[in-house]
Amino acid sequence: MSRAKYIAKLLGRKREVIEIVTMTGGNESIDDVEAVEPLMKELETDTTESRNELLHSITKLLEDVCLREDVDEVKELKLELNRDFHKVYLDMAFSSGLPPQMAALDASQPWMLYWIANSLQVLDPEWLSDDNKRLIVDKLFHISPECGPFGGGVGQYPHLAGTYASINALSLCSNVENSWDRINRDAIYQWLLSLKQPDGGFKTCLEVGEVDTRGVYCALSVASMLDIMTDELCEGVVDYLVACQNYEGGFGSGPFCDEAHGGYTFCAVGSLAILNALDKINCEKLMEWCSARQYNEELGLCGRSNKLVDGCYSFWVGATAAILESHNYGECIDKLALRNYILACCQAQDHPGLRDKPGKHSDFYHTNYVLLGLAISESQYFMEGSARGIELIDSRLSDKALNSSLAKINPVYGLPENSFKDFIKHFKTKNA
Ligand code: FPP
Ligand code: ZN
Repeated sequence: MSRAKYIAKLLGRKREVIEIVTMTGGNESIDDVEAVEPLMKELETDTTESRNELLHSITKLLEDVCLREDVDEVKELKLELNRDFHKVYLDMAFSSGLPPQMAALDASQPWMLYWIANSLQVLDPEWLSDDNKRLIVDKLFHISPECGPFGGGVGQYPHLAGTYASINALSLCSNVENSWDRINRDAIYQWLLSLKQPDGGFKTCLEVGEVDTRGVYCALSVASMLDIMTDELCEGVVDYLVACQNYEGGFGSGPFCDEAHGGYTFCAVGSLAILNALDKINCEKLMEWCSARQYNEELGLCGRSNKLVDGCYSFWVGATAAILESHNYGECIDKLALRNYILACCQAQDHPGLRDKPGKHSDFYHTNYVLLGLAISESQYFMEGSARGIELIDSRLSDKALNSSLAKINPVYGLPENSFKDFIKHFKTKNA
């Protein structure tokens, strides 16, 4: 008899592990697999069914693309990004009002500005016009007339997510209207300190916020970009983050709890990179976890064990892998496969913008993170010199046939290298 161990592996962490004993004689053999298959059928869930359906449509789509491009294998594809088409989608945000279904994003206004501005700049640094930069700056300072911290919209409480997205968006607007000097760094610093928790985490909002790795990342990203990092602000943060890595190798939302997830993992790893403390975690386990997020069949990445592939994890997980790569831990995802998933499955012929997966509509969130993921899949990451500072992360683009001419991006910040460097230099010079 042998135990069908891999059934347990198929199940989400929060479920009880199911062990089933099969009558197969004890050796790992083809009979073993055949005996287990009907049991797997019994254990089908909504998610396994959705995955089967998705797998079917992606396999068909990839076959069609291979036929159209006249290649025998997906690996031989040299697909292109429909850059001008996606620009139309992004420009629309500035020229026509947003559709009513976007009312749900009322508390995410700075996010939309970051996603749209960043997508344009990643596509081409010239595509965000000065007029549109001015519109963005005016909108952000209308949301926060005190010039920081920022809420999600006019009259809303200051929030770490809104402040993070606002600072990112401002960094993309090359100091038009003197906007960088108008940012109220003192008020932001005092507010960040007030959000600090005894366990090293940060509350996302003083009035009603939750505490998880997203809060830590937003706080550290903002503080490091504005050059307002202090020992007081960073006290206890590394210990907090180390305790968020779980037995899977990825990171849960908080210390000693929860399933590992690509979003929380990126936030923890980005934060540890900012704190120069990646050596405090188990990077080998983390790399295994990142590798396991990529499906051989769909080619793209998922966010957690047994969930569906989704284009946005090309950034959340792809950037985690790129940060590790830049720190000499090696590559842990198949970038060419990821590139093929993105270009074959995340862009549609009849709709501009990028999407999560076939069958979904494009949106600004996915357009931004899929483009960032594509830039990562086409780059190799390393450090300039031997110093470990995150601003020294650099990248080299892959050869022309497999490169979509996107801007080089900094994987810790999700921003084009050039505008990011100008922004931090501005504040470093100020403090010098
Ligand atoms: C699950 O969504 C998603 C989460 C539990 C959190 C996601 C977090 C991020 C994307 C990071 C946010 C980053 C910052 C900087 C604030 P789901 O269940 O719909 O998706 P899934 O099935 O793919 O897990
Ligand atoms: Zn997504």
